[in-house]
Amino acid sequence: MVNQRIAEILRNSQPDESVTIKGWVRTKRELKEFTFIEVNDGSFLANLQVVLNPDLPDYDTILKQINTGASVEVSGVIVPSLGKGQRIELKASSVIVYGDADAATYPLQKKRHSFEFLRTIGHLRSRTNTIGAVFRVRNACASAIHQFFQERGFLWIHSPIITASDCEGAGELFTVTSLNLNNIPKTKAGEVDFSQDFFGRKAYLTVSGQLQAEVMAMAFRDVYTFGPTFRAENSNTSRHLAEFWMVEPEMAFCDLNGDMDLAEAFLKYIFKYVLDKCPEDMEFFNERIDNSVLATAENIINNEFQRITYTEAISLLEKAERQFEYPVNWGLDLQSEHERYLAEELFKKPVIVTNYPVGIKAFYMRLNDEEKTVAAMDVLAPKIGEIIGGSQREERLDVLQKRMESQGINPEDLSWYLDLRRYGTVPHAGFGLGFERLVQFMTGMGNIRDVIPFPRTPLSADF
Ligand code: 4AD
Ligand code: MG
Repeated sequence: MVNQRIAEILRNSQPDESVTIKGWVRTKRELKEFTFIEVNDGSFLANLQVVLNPDLPDYDTILKQINTGASVEVSGVIVPSLGKGQRIELKASSVIVYGDADAATYPLQKKRHSFEFLRTIGHLRSRTNTIGAVFRVRNACASAIHQFFQERGFLWIHSPIITASDCEGAGELFTVTSLNLNNIPKTKAGEVDFSQDFFGRKAYLTVSGQLQAEVMAMAFRDVYTFGPTFRAENSNTSRHLAEFWMVEPEMAFCDLNGDMDLAEAFLKYIFKYVLDKCPEDMEFFNERIDNSVLATAENIINNEFQRITYTEAISLLEKAERQFEYPVNWGLDLQSEHERYLAEELFKKPVIVTNYPVGIKAFYMRLNDEEKTVAAMDVLAPKIGEIIGGSQREERLDVLQKRMESQGINPEDLSWYLDLRRYGTVPHAGFGLGFERLVQFMTGMGNIRDVIPFPRTPLSADF
């Protein structure tokens, strides 16, 4: 009774049950004999229809206060609904209006708004059907992720947000500054000195928690991170954010095959979990956003992922009967159009591409015996492209030192990382899943800005 949610009432409540709900009014319809309002509290896609009879105390004053957007508490009795599309409704016996909303200025109307428009009212858009469903599914994905790893004995570790290392070596770092605006450090040339500005040392927002996950894996065997990461890449695409969430498992005593097996089992588990927990939301996405959402989920759950090497991928792309915008050539990285061709058109399911050229991958990936490729793996998803990037890590001290030097990384800067190879090194592997790309994949949402509550991209910084 204390904290009843509309989802539970719509699913389980029976006529004659007394309930109290709290939420926001989505619609109001005044008829001659009574008034209908529909209330939503975020727990469920559908609204609970409430009947307000004129014999309610203060009926006339209440009606004046209730508009779309108002916040209410309604107590009453569940009755069977005669209207189409709902099993039950709530006959109100008392109504409290916490806050009214001016219908003339409330930005959400009872019509479909474009996602572009909704982005301009990011503080209100979660009160719409689609964005509400997105964040319920996002929550279910997060819950599935923890459950998956916890069931398997992985330790959740909290990697730092502020770090001194550039894990990916790509230089896509946001600098963290402790600048006192009254005392800005200057270079000898008199310019602002950004190089040493975290209390006299260098510091960045993390691009990945992997290096720290490796530290913890060398004590706990199986660990995972789940937190925000940051990339200073000026990419205004529908799949890039400057701030996104990443899930990074890391396993000691594990090779590339074990890594791929985990990634596949992981994605299957999350899809199954979300179909089970959010069936109404998933059906809604299938109906309104992308009519392949449910088939894709079944495909993920029921079929083995395709596994091919990078070299095989290149020859398949060379044979493709279509033109690509970017060149395909052994040694070049795969572009999103190539990734999508493989997953979406050729294999029609997720594809795991392994053993990429050493020249295009990060320093920590394990060098294969032929020394031209590394034990990397990317999982490519239909419509999304790369959703997971991972690898077996280089566990041999001498090889790792050489790789670092050849990529211009000073081994002294990462001496703690090299210690992991000096003291009890083991083969180990892991991967990173882009959490928002997963939510996009799951829901069919076209733009990554619509699957994170407060999108941070080069062009958006409202919050
Ligand atoms: O492939 P990435 O760069 O891999 C790493 O960071 C490794 N350290 C992970 C690991 O092995 N522990 O990033 C991993 C994933 C990508 O596959 C992609 O899904 C997502 O993170 N990602 C982004 N998502 C949204 N916006 C961006 N700018 C992203 N950059 C990467
Ligand atoms: Mg990658």
